[in-house]
Amino acid sequence: MAKIEEVNTGNIPEHVAIIMDGNGRWAKQKGKLRVFGHKNGVKAVQSTIEGAARVGIKYVTLYAFSTENWNRPKLEVNALMELLVDTIKKEVKTLNKNKIRLKAIGNLDSLPQNAKMKLQEAIQETAHNDHMTLVLALSYSAKWEIVNAVKQIVRDHDSGKLSMNDINETCIEEALSTNGMPHPELMIRTSGEHRISNFLLWQLAYAELYFTPKLWPDFREDDLYEALLSYQRRERRFGKTSEQISDNIS
Ligand code: IPE
Ligand code: IPE
Ligand code: MG
Repeated sequence: MAKIEEVNTGNIPEHVAIIMDGNGRWAKQKGKLRVFGHKNGVKAVQSTIEGAARVGIKYVTLYAFSTENWNRPKLEVNALMELLVDTIKKEVKTLNKNKIRLKAIGNLDSLPQNAKMKLQEAIQETAHNDHMTLVLALSYSAKWEIVNAVKQIVRDHDSGKLSMNDINETCIEEALSTNGMPHPELMIRTSGEHRISNFLLWQLAYAELYFTPKLWPDFREDDLYEALLSYQRRERRFGKTSEQISDNIS
């Protein structure tokens, strides 16, 4: 297992996005209900966030609940929402202690009133922190986000704020919920599934993808360091040739 000392501090991604998957299977393996897996996923979140803050990652985005997850059994959805409220209430102190700012992306209006309120409170109470930003993707899907972005662009066009010729990548960036954040250089998915599941489709365009069979409740900061080591062994070419990259010529 990787240790923090092995990580090259000169090559840390600014933003790491994580699909926290496998809670249900983890619980099933133990003969427990799915909710037991979600509850144990909180420990993985705490350890990963601590590790990320320790190595100097500036943004961590966690996929906590997707638009599609609303289609799960009502009992599970309710339990997840309760867990969200509970965890946020308990963690605000630690976030402030570690100077971590909380943000959220997604259709927050679709959350139960209580969850939305607690979330907004925690966002306000941590807004002054500047060591790291923790972004929760909640009731989030990339297609939802892109539809919203298109609507905003059309609105700006119709009101005369934006002309057709002004529409470029920057204006699309600005209409996304991640406006102002760097794109994730690394995306981690646990549980052995090799898919994106409607997560940050635009923002992950050039991310390095890392998949691990570990189920989310078993994931710890050392697993994050393992993912960082894999990231650091890769050559990010952005369409160029390997020679251009190694000789540092444009
Ligand atoms: C991830 O674990 C948590 C959420 C999607 C909310 P799952 O609940 O998807 O667990 P598996 O994939 O069924 O094992
Ligand atoms: C993706 O996991 C969403 C979250 C981790 C919140 P899912 O378990 O919902 O994804 P699929 O359905 O297996 O693609
Ligand atoms: Mg899953």
